[in-house]
Amino acid sequence: MKPTVLITGASSGLGYEFAKLFAANGYNLVLTARNEEKLQQIKEELSHVDVMVAPKDLSQPHSGEELYQQLLDQDVSINVLVNNAGFGLNGEFDKLSLKQQQEMIQVNMTSLTDLTYCFLPEIKKQANAGHFSGILNVASTAAFQPGPYMSVYYASKAYVLSLSEGIAGELKGTDVQMTTLCPGATETNFFKTAKAENAKLAQSTMSAGAVAKEGFEGFIKRQQIVIPGRMNAVGAFAAKFLPRSLASNLAKRFNGAQS
Ligand SMILES: NC(=O)c1ccc[n+]([C@@H]2O[C@H](COP(=O)([O-])OP(=O)(O)OC[C@H]3O[C@@H](n4cnc5c(N)ncnc54)[C@H](OP(=O)(O)O)[C@@H]3O)[C@@H](O)[C@H]2O)c1
Repeated sequence: MKPTVLITGASSGLGYEFAKLFAANGYNLVLTARNEEKLQQIKEELSHVDVMVAPKDLSQPHSGEELYQQLLDQDVSINVLVNNAGFGLNGEFDKLSLKQQQEMIQVNMTSLTDLTYCFLPEIKKQANAGHFSGILNVASTAAFQPGPYMSVYYASKAYVLSLSEGIAGELKGTDVQMTTLCPGATETNFFKTAKAENAKLAQSTMSAGAVAKEGFEGFIKRQQIVIPGRMNAVGAFAAKFLPRSLASNLAKRFNGAQS
């Protein structure tokens, strides 16, 4: 039987690229996001594997647990979870909508945590039965320093990285793979959603296909952290050694409008 991957945020960008990559590597897919029409289109496009479409708004409390229950009720068990859904918002913390920032926390952090918690026991079982199994969490190079004008987003990605590294530590010595993908700026709908199209950050991007490929390959090769692109890796390395205030100032310049 083919293994199954659950991909969140599969309706566009990196999630869509992950869907194509996992399908090409023999996985059946469970795809989730809010946009059901897009998910149905992707199901038709990838009809060489079994695709289940499970629309869900992950900004709603308990939506991660509901999704888990839905798959349980339908007897769908998964080998791999890709926690990819997420979004950012660009602007001063107290000028941005509180509701939207709360939704960001829910999608980027809480639902990711809930899904990881719910599916991990099953993923462990699959690994014990000898199947390649694990979790691929999508953080960002934003995880490595504070990010003025995108403060909640950067903090949410620092959480994703720290949580994933913590759980990876717990999983050491088991066959369950935990990988964190930390992309830099990538050509997707991200900047439009974040209203950051004029930010310097948006000027130098990698393609979504290239980023997802590095993430997929790193996951299969059992890498713990994957930072696609040499400049992104250098930036993440530098952020470890720079005074935090300097790293924060640099991020502020990238998040601010192009001069
Ligand atoms: N692009 C970049 O520069 C960049 C850099 C570093 C990290 N990342 C991370 O990469 C991940 C994927 O983003 P992307 O760049 O591919 O952007 P994207 O094209 O905007 O994709 C975001 C995905 O998340 C889903 N999503 C957003 N809000 C949701 C909600 N409330 N409930 C369920 N799904 C929701 C969207 O689907 P619906 O709208 O259909 O719900 C979409 O499928 C995110 O975690 C992002 O933070 C992106």
